[in-house]
Amino acid sequence: MPQLIVTTRDGTEHEVTGEAGLSVMEVIRDNGFDELLAMCGGSCSCATCHVYVDEDQLDRLGPLGPDEHELLDSSEHRSERSRLSCQLRFDNALDGLRVTIAPEV
Ligand code: FES
Repeated sequence: MPQLIVTTRDGTEHEVTGEAGLSVMEVIRDNGFDELLAMCGGSCSCATCHVYVDEDQLDRLGPLGPDEHELLDSSEHRSERSRLSCQLRFDNALDGLRVTIAPEV
């Protein structure tokens, strides 16, 4: 299974694995990180699954969708590395992806 490296809000790095085909949000949630609330369950309407992707890995991801872009705009913590993890499909091509859970909304 592909590996995901998750940095939690306290700065601790965790290496986890996730099933290909899940979203990055689901991989994070299924590995027990309760600080990623993902309140809407992945329907792109809450922005509580906000993560920062390591800058040198941004080009591994597809472009932001219009809804994702709009929702992220509502976050005061948005940066150029911001993505909604529920909109990122996790698969073998993303093995080793590094994300940091963004501050609480
Ligand atoms: S889980 Fe709500 S926008 Fe991603």
